[in-house]
Amino acid sequence: MPDLSGKVAIVTGAGRGIGRAHALALAAAGAKVVVNDLGGSLAGEGADTSPAQQVVAEIEAAGGEAVADGENVADFAGAGRMVEHAVSAFGRLEILVNNAGILRDRMLVNMSEEEWDAVIAVHLKGHFAPTRHAAAHWRERSKAGEQLHARVVNTSSPSGVFGNVGQTNYGAAKAGIAGFTLIAAQELARYGVTVNCLAPNARTRMTEETFDIGSAPEGFDPLDPANISPVVLALCADEAQHITGQVFHVWGGAVNALHGWTGGELFAAGERWDADALLAAMRERFPAGVAPEGMVAGMEKAGGRSLRVAE
Ligand SMILES: NC(=O)c1ccc[n+]([C@@H]2O[C@H](COP(=O)([O-])OP(=O)(O)OC[C@H]3O[C@@H](n4cnc5c(N)ncnc54)[C@H](O)[C@@H]3O)[C@@H](O)[C@H]2O)c1
Repeated sequence: MPDLSGKVAIVTGAGRGIGRAHALALAAAGAKVVVNDLGGSLAGEGADTSPAQQVVAEIEAAGGEAVADGENVADFAGAGRMVEHAVSAFGRLEILVNNAGILRDRMLVNMSEEEWDAVIAVHLKGHFAPTRHAAAHWRERSKAGEQLHARVVNTSSPSGVFGNVGQTNYGAAKAGIAGFTLIAAQELARYGVTVNCLAPNARTRMTEETFDIGSAPEGFDPLDPANISPVVLALCADEAQHITGQVFHVWGGAVNALHGWTGGELFAAGERWDADALLAAMRERFPAGVAPEGMVAGMEKAGGRSLRVAE
């Protein structure tokens, strides 16, 4: 695995599931890790520092270095304290893995304002706030003349890039995270920071409570959360300095650098369209109509298999 010794990493939401796997993998590769986790329920209620502390104990038992951090990533000042925590504990920060997340699924027609706000806050603001504070830390070091190999790895979802029914709040936040990745990658390149994004699939409390995914099979489990972490390690290597702004769909051993929004069906008139003429051109181009394929088809084309298939 890439040698990340001497690097300092924060993994948000690292007390459980995919974030825990990332924290263990980063520590095994030699990084010192801030294991952040608020420790609430899947819906984001309550707080408990014991999941983060348990992961720290696991890292220490394996000979690594880690500290637990209980900040809420959706709290702008709290995210600043988390970055400060890395600096005070280990002297600096090189790697930020934004992973913390919650779910409050509901059909749009029934979704409450609280369900919308909570999910947008934890995911979208919970990516902005830590990245904003980390970026200020990296700008300062870059301006002082350091050549950085700093990394942000964000966490989107098949729901965000393909669109899953019942998740307008979560999917909109996750699509926003993919867009945030594209822009942050361009802005932070000048400081030596790459910004990439994962669209993972794994057996965690999030998917176990949402889908009927059954237990792990004998042999290789495509849904083992640890399958996602090699992508993080590869992106964190110094040699990955020129791989940035990408969204990687991960299913077992299938890692797919997705093509996002690109030029599609062009209706070019050379002057302002007449609405009737435009409608006629659209109906001619789409004789059978046009609609999103949805998450199941999107995931299959990316080399995966929707958990919804198991429903
Ligand atoms: N499991 C999957 O198949 C899957 C699919 C797509 C995307 N994801 C994304 O992967 C990430 C990890 O999910 P998981 O499946 O491991 O779920 P999980 O529930 O096992 O872990 C998420 C962790 O984030 C923590 N957390 C929640 N809100 C927080 C906050 N405000 N501040 C700090 N920590 C907070 C929780 O306490 C929890 O330990 C999430 O962003 C999720 O949306 C997961």
